[in-house]
Amino acid sequence: MSIPVRHAQSPIGARMNINGREVDYYCGTSYYTLHGNPQVIAAASEAMQQFGIAPATSLAMTPYEELEHLAKSFFDAESVSYIASGYLGMMVLAQALRDDYDIILVDELSHYSIVDAAATMGKKIVPFRHLDPEDLTEKLRAHVQPGQTPLVATDGVFPVTGAIAPLLDYTSVLERYQEAVLCVDDSHAVGVIGEKGRGTFEYCGMTSAVKHYFSGTLSKAFGGFGGIVVGDGPLEEKIEKNVRVPLGASRPPIPAAAASSMGIKLLRDHPEMRQRLWRNVKQVRDGLRNLGFDIPDTPIPIVNLKGASSLDLEHVQEELYSKDIVVAHIPPRGYSDAPDVASLRIAVFSTHSSQQIERLLATIKSAI
Ligand SMILES: Cc1ncc(COP(=O)(O)O)c(C=O)c1O
Repeated sequence: MSIPVRHAQSPIGARMNINGREVDYYCGTSYYTLHGNPQVIAAASEAMQQFGIAPATSLAMTPYEELEHLAKSFFDAESVSYIASGYLGMMVLAQALRDDYDIILVDELSHYSIVDAAATMGKKIVPFRHLDPEDLTEKLRAHVQPGQTPLVATDGVFPVTGAIAPLLDYTSVLERYQEAVLCVDDSHAVGVIGEKGRGTFEYCGMTSAVKHYFSGTLSKAFGGFGGIVVGDGPLEEKIEKNVRVPLGASRPPIPAAAASSMGIKLLRDHPEMRQRLWRNVKQVRDGLRNLGFDIPDTPIPIVNLKGASSLDLEHVQEELYSKDIVVAHIPPRGYSDAPDVASLRIAVFSTHSSQQIERLLATIKSAI
C-alpha cells in the first residue's frame, strides 16, 4: 500500500481530518497547533473586517505596528522587522549587515534560506562541516585574511533532524575575530525553546559579546504567517539603508499579522503551553529510546527516526497510516539537513494527549 496524496479537510490539529478520515497528526511545524486555535482565527477575522485583506499602501497600519511591538517585547529585542516570509529573513540580515563583514561561513546543511541569501551577496562563501565548531575554526583560519571580518550563518534548530546548533561553541571561536557576526535562522526554535520561548540563543544561555542576530518565522510555533528579523537598534537603520525586500515585497496580509500577534500573546501569557510541549516531547523521545532507537534527550519537537538498514521505514509509515496515525517519511537527502539515509520525521505538538502518544509508540513497536 502506498499512501495517497493527503488532503487536509480541517485546520491542522493533533487530531484532524485528512482524506475524510480522522487521524492523529504528527507532521509539519504547527507545534502548538495554533493555526486552528479559535482565538487566533477570531483575531485574524476581526482585523480583516476592520482593515481589509492586504496593505497595498505605504500607510502605517495598526496590525503591523502591534505585531512588531509585541515581538520586540517577546524577544526582549531592540529591533524586530516583520517581512513577507521567514525564508527571506536571512537575506534581509545578510544584506542589512553587508558593510559589517567580508566573508560568509555557512553550516554545510543549512536551510535553503541561508544558502540562497549567501548567494546574493557577491562575497566569498565557505561551507563548514555540519554542527562542527572545530571545522569552523579550521575554515576561519584558512580563509579569513588579516583585517577581514567573518559572518557565520546556520540554522538554530535544523528542520528534519531537530539538531541544535552549538552556538556557544561558535561564539567562542568567533571571539578571536574582531567584530565577527553570527546569524541564525531560528524558524524552528522561536516560540519553542528557551525559558521564555525566545529561541536557540536563549536556550544556549548566550552572553557573549559577539554580535548576533536571528531571523524566524511566525508560520510555525506562533500559528500565524510571515518572517521576522531580530537584532539590536542599529539593525533597523541598516535594513532601511541596505535592503530592498521591505520596499519590493508586500508584508503578509492583515489577518496573518493579527493571527501572529495573537499567537505571540498566547505564548507570552501561557508558559504552560511550552511546559506541555516539552512534556510531550519527552514522552515521545523516552518512548522511542525504550524501543531501541538512538534519540537524543532534547526539548525539540522534531524527532528524527532512523533505523538499522534492515528496517523499512516506508513500511512503518504505511502501518501507522493504516491505524490513522500520520508521520512524514523523508527520503535520503530529501531536504536541506535530511540524513543520507531514509528517516521518519515525527513532529510533536503541545496538544497531543498522552494517550495519543502511547498509541503512536505502541503502533511503531508493532510495526518494527
Ligand atoms: C529553517 C527554515 N527557515 C525558513 C523557513 C521558511 O519560513 P516561511 O514559511 O515563513 O517562509 C523554513 C520553512 O520550512 C525553515 O524550515
